[in-house]
Amino acid sequence: METKLAPAAEEAGECFPVRRLQITDKSKGFIDLLGQLTVCDPISDEQFLARFQDLKSNGDDHVICVIEDDHSGRIIATGSVFVEKKFIRNCGKVGHIEDVVVDSGARGKHLGQKIVRFLLDHARSMGCYKVILDCDVENKGFYEKCGFKEKSVQMAMYLD
Ligand SMILES: CC(C)(COP(=O)(O)OP(=O)(O)OC[C@H]1O[C@@H](n2cnc3c(N)ncnc32)[C@H](O)[C@@H]1OP(=O)(O)O)[C@@H](O)C(=O)NCCC(=O)NCCS
Repeated sequence: METKLAPAAEEAGECFPVRRLQITDKSKGFIDLLGQLTVCDPISDEQFLARFQDLKSNGDDHVICVIEDDHSGRIIATGSVFVEKKFIRNCGKVGHIEDVVVDSGARGKHLGQKIVRFLLDHARSMGCYKVILDCDVENKGFYEKCGFKEKSVQMAMYLD
């Protein structure tokens, strides 16, 4: 379901703060929003709670952030970053950005860029020496605007 931003919100150029995911965000359309990115079947409140708590146990190593539209009370943008701890690069850390999506009714207002900036700031604060992500070729320009450069190729094997 697309969320139309209230005209007043757009005209006022509201800042739409980015915050971390909260348990109550399920009822604000968080799962519906992920459905605009890829297959995301409905899940029960119990499933959501269990996964939420599992992720929370990773502390700052796995952060999901969201933007809520105060007028509609809906979640209109999200993204996540996972901090991978390595032995190489003097026990360095790499940030992996995943699942960036902006509601179709709220695109083109720099909310996606805001989400990516939040995730990059978090990775930097965690000491990551680089941040990487996979994206469809049609989103290459978006990530370039966010400061990324194309590198290597993506390989994938789906196991189910
Ligand atoms: C890709 C997506 C997250 C962009 O979000 P958005 O909020 O509309 O993008 P922004 O408004 O922050 O765009 C920032 C800049 O990138 C540009 N941009 C946005 N999408 C672009 C695209 N697909 N190709 C080229 N440039 C793009 C914008 O024009 C803007 O440029 P500007 O700074 O010169 O004005 C959004 O279109 C989306 O959710 N798409 C569907 C889900 C998806 O594919 N997610 C990516 C998973 S890898």
